[in-house]
Amino acid sequence: MSSTFIMDHPLIRHKIGLMRDKNTSTMEFRALVTEVAMLIYYEASRNLQLADKVIETPLVKTTVKEISGKKLCVVPILRAGMQMAEGVLRLTPNAKVGHIGLYRDEETLEPHEYFCKLPKDIVDREVFVVDPMLATGGSADAAITLLKRRGIEKIRFLCLIAAPEGVERLQKAHPDVDIYIGALDERLNENGYILPGLGDAGDRIYGTK
Ligand code: PRP
Ligand code: URA
Repeated sequence: MSSTFIMDHPLIRHKIGLMRDKNTSTMEFRALVTEVAMLIYYEASRNLQLADKVIETPLVKTTVKEISGKKLCVVPILRAGMQMAEGVLRLTPNAKVGHIGLYRDEETLEPHEYFCKLPKDIVDREVFVVDPMLATGGSADAAITLLKRRGIEKIRFLCLIAAPEGVERLQKAHPDVDIYIGALDERLNENGYILPGLGDAGDRIYGTK
């Protein structure tokens, strides 16, 4: 059974508060997405396995820890997930990156796939799927289903803001996937936007509206 973790760290709460403000500029918004993604990833990577490694300090030989053989892959859901992947890569720059392109039909709210490129050895890696918004859950569900069809088993999902509807859908569809959420909001509006939310994450990151 999976677990759902809702962040309560003051830094995350403060920064998400700044992101919600419609007067926050594109430049600030982008930086905040990266920073909050790093903070959530800090939690989501807490139980990665470590192995011993012998090194020499300038003074003596010693044994240090390194993230062990289980290697990592971050999979952003395009477009908005790209900015979260940036945060993950700052902390684990050796992670590989897979891209899944999905857009949500504005009428039906159903996700449509338009791109998928994954590392060849992704099945041997621990996978972190990232997308700032978990609204109906359709996009996250579709991305994780696609990964599972390719044989990938170890998947975690990270988002900045979630609606209860999306969390419920993801928990039901993928009970084996741990979910890490920056803030759990109230509900979806009639257009499938999260309330109070922060608007359209992709548009705010890329300045497309
Ligand atoms: C947004 C967001 C998620 C999706 C969430 O992407 O980044 O991928 O909507 O909604 P859901 O949970 O109801 O599926 P969008 O489709 O707007 O694409 P974009 O990132 O290219 O702006
Ligand atoms: N996608 C977004 O970018 N924002 C929402 O509130 C819902 C879906």
